[in-house]
Amino acid sequence: MIFYFSATGNTKHAAKVIADRNGDRLIPIAEAMRTGNCSYQAGPGEDIGIITPVYFWGIPDVVHRFLKTVQLSGQGTDRYVYCVLTYGTVTGGASSMIMTDLKENFGLTILAVFAARTVDTYLPIFSVADAAKNEKVLKQYDKDLEEIAGKVAERTVGDYNYDRGAWALCWPIAQLVYDHVRKTKKFSVSPDCIGCGLCERQCPDSVIRLQDGKPVWTRERCSLCLGCVNRCPKNAISFGGKTEGKGQYQNPEEKPDLS
Ligand SMILES: Cc1cc2nc3c(=O)[nH]c(=O)nc-3n(C[C@H](O)[C@H](O)[C@H](O)COP(=O)(O)O)c2cc1C
Ligand code: SF4
Ligand code: SF4
Repeated sequence: MIFYFSATGNTKHAAKVIADRNGDRLIPIAEAMRTGNCSYQAGPGEDIGIITPVYFWGIPDVVHRFLKTVQLSGQGTDRYVYCVLTYGTVTGGASSMIMTDLKENFGLTILAVFAARTVDTYLPIFSVADAAKNEKVLKQYDKDLEEIAGKVAERTVGDYNYDRGAWALCWPIAQLVYDHVRKTKKFSVSPDCIGCGLCERQCPDSVIRLQDGKPVWTRERCSLCLGCVNRCPKNAISFGGKTEGKGQYQNPEEKPDLS
């Protein structure tokens, strides 16, 4: 079974490539958290994969909360447990964070860590506006995913996460920065908004509500997946005044999990 979270499709694509190769079942974390249905039964010897994007050298808050609350029965020691990180620049301590969460919640040990570089969706810093550049990155991403899927099929054990970066041990500090940055008061909506409600329906944290036909953010913080910014059909949502002109991105091969 593969638990994955994906805002703009990169990680969903990784999960699907690996699941297709290995006949795994896919469990979208966004859906589980929206419905509150977080109990699963692992079959005897069934593999467990955690596939997530890297956020602030760690993992998205929604994934962290899921790994803290998910109920997994049927677990044993004789199974292949691995994680795959998708990322744009450096993975920092993301795998350490997953290892800690899994150990604390289930006593599970990760046997293999993989990472695949792809289009960086952190729009306050990076731009996704250059389609040709994205295409080039995605071509290499697909090759890397095939290689990872092969290693997972062979139940390869080891550390294949080569881009942790020089300050990987500082991930707790990066996560404090994440907590500071991911404040919903920084979202703004332009008059182009047509009140379609897509942002409300697809927010994995359920923090957006339409009021008088416009989105409002109902909690102080969200996971900052930027799905709302990337998917708005009118490109009407911006974050911190830093996402305008950076383009909108959705992995060309995947549709959003929530509709
Ligand atoms: C809030 C946020 C923080 C991010 N932080 C990092 C990071 O620390 N290191 C990195 O290499 N990529 C970072 N990224 C890029 C994503 O990990 C990468 O684009 C990922 O493939 C997105 O996955 P998705 O398309 O499945 O949502 C960040 C993206 C977002 C939205
Ligand atoms: S997705 Fe965009 S257009 Fe639709 S309600 Fe949200 S902000 Fe408005
Ligand atoms: S409000 Fe937007 S950025 Fe925050 S979790 Fe929801 S969809 Fe993602």
